[in-house]
Amino acid sequence: MSEFPRIFAHRGASSLAPENTIAAFSKAMECGAKRIEFDVDVMGDGTLLVIHDDTLDRTTNSSGPYHGLGYSDLRRIDAGAWFSPAYRFERIPELADVIAFANANGLGMNLEIKPCRAATELREKLLENLLVAIDRVRTTDFLVSSFDHDMLAGFHAARPDIALGWLHARADQAGPTWQEGARLLQCRAVHPQLEGLTREEVAEIREAGFEVNVWTVNDVATARELASWGVDGIFTDRPQDFPAEALAR
Ligand code: G3P
Ligand code: MG
Repeated sequence: MSEFPRIFAHRGASSLAPENTIAAFSKAMECGAKRIEFDVDVMGDGTLLVIHDDTLDRTTNSSGPYHGLGYSDLRRIDAGAWFSPAYRFERIPELADVIAFANANGLGMNLEIKPCRAATELREKLLENLLVAIDRVRTTDFLVSSFDHDMLAGFHAARPDIALGWLHARADQAGPTWQEGARLLQCRAVHPQLEGLTREEVAEIREAGFEVNVWTVNDVATARELASWGVDGIFTDRPQDFPAEALAR
């Protein structure tokens, strides 16, 4: 067993650069990270964008939801200045840009599908365009995950060859548990929340035949302890804190 779990730079190196931007993915790479995690949603015209929230408020100089906007709007929205003036002019990337960046730099990816809750009519478009976009992925180190298990099921039905992560948050008790759902969708991994996670739960997931990738772990000592429990991977905002040999895994 290794001293550290595999490391995914969560939304890129999101403690060093604005999350879910090419700048954050570049920083992750500069830190030596071999994998990135990012969140994907859809705009009104079907453009797939890489963003965490349902609205532009927190991570851009704009506001409100983006499900009424389209591709041309991405060029005018600043997604970096909120983080630091050094990142002004950073843009919300399209999914295709992030995949191209990862391909060019040999990065593994965890693509998290984050369907816009406010725009359920766009769900089909999201899935349809996602299926086209991922044909450009050139790595086998590629995992698709979602808290939205209906979306994950739809994705799995269309692309059963792609490895899945069953994401769940402890507060979210609705719908099937990982015991039921991850098996049904033949997931490769379960992605539990760090808060409240126990050694016993990790053992149970692994005994059920799944890998365990934990979010979000921003402390090196905790990462080491999780590895000793058998955790396979962690999502961290702080890849810069980890030794090179941990990042190289
Ligand atoms: O995919 C792991 C983690 O990103 C899930 O939570 O809210 O940061 O997307 P969130
Ligand atoms: Mg995420």
